[in-house]
Amino acid sequence: MAGAMAGAIETVRRVGDLRARVRGWKAEGLRVGLTPTMGALHEGHLSLVARALEATDRVVATIFVNPTQFGAGEDFSTYPRDEARDGALLARAGASLLFAPPVEEMYPPGFATEVRVSGLTDCLCGAARPGHFDGVAQVVTKLLNQAEADAAVFGEKDWQQLAVIRRLARDLDIPTEILGAPILREADGLAMSSRNRYLTAEERAVAPALARALTAAAAEIAGGRAPAEACADAAAALQAAGFRAVDYVDCREADSLAPVQSAPPARPARIFGAAHLGRARLIDNLPVPGAGR
Ligand code: PAF
Repeated sequence: MAGAMAGAIETVRRVGDLRARVRGWKAEGLRVGLTPTMGALHEGHLSLVARALEATDRVVATIFVNPTQFGAGEDFSTYPRDEARDGALLARAGASLLFAPPVEEMYPPGFATEVRVSGLTDCLCGAARPGHFDGVAQVVTKLLNQAEADAAVFGEKDWQQLAVIRRLARDLDIPTEILGAPILREADGLAMSSRNRYLTAEERAVAPALARALTAAAAEIAGGRAPAEACADAAAALQAAGFRAVDYVDCREADSLAPVQSAPPARPARIFGAAHLGRARLIDNLPVPGAGR
């Protein structure tokens, strides 16, 4: 039903209703921003809305827990869902419309199209979660086409995802400008994430070790230590701190995600980490200071 209220924000569930609202704003000469999310919102998501409001006049937020980006055994069925709460937060943050489609609106019977960005998706989370970025590329391509927004904002916490989305928008001539928003952190350095809520109190106390280990490794690489050695030490520090398994700690070029072997790196570089703590898989990344300058 078009125009129904969830919390305090106007909510639409059909692509036709989304397009009608966006085209109406554009006919008035307004620029439209898009902030795709899977819900379970935290301050990091609200900062995406704030970033979109800097660049555009009206912001459409989306909430869709996309089944095609979850692997077998991942948390699709248990992913937190609370649309009323999220809708109220989005309204307070200044979003004008929520697009929250049901699965059959996004993937109707007979849906058969895949979107795959090769190269960028082979490493880091792409290697640890096979198929994940194919699902992300598929749903984001659809959301960008559905909304026809002037700009769309994605968080830099998912840096690889942002790189994949920039590439697909460029390759597929999608005219929406893709903007990144900086990572928001808790006071102890933990990057904000919907999955932080899976942590027990003890695990929550351990979790900031990820940002600490990446910060230390980045400083070492900036100082001339071989990236492979610094990353191996960071991974060992995570195991020692209590992380159950480390998917990767890796230093890569910021844009191409090519591996970095030299220290200090010749081009802008970032250090990336992903590790499991209890039920949660935490990811983080940060720049190698001074790299490529
Ligand atoms: O980052 C996310 O929340 C999701 O991967 C996205 C971009 C909304 C696609 O489902």
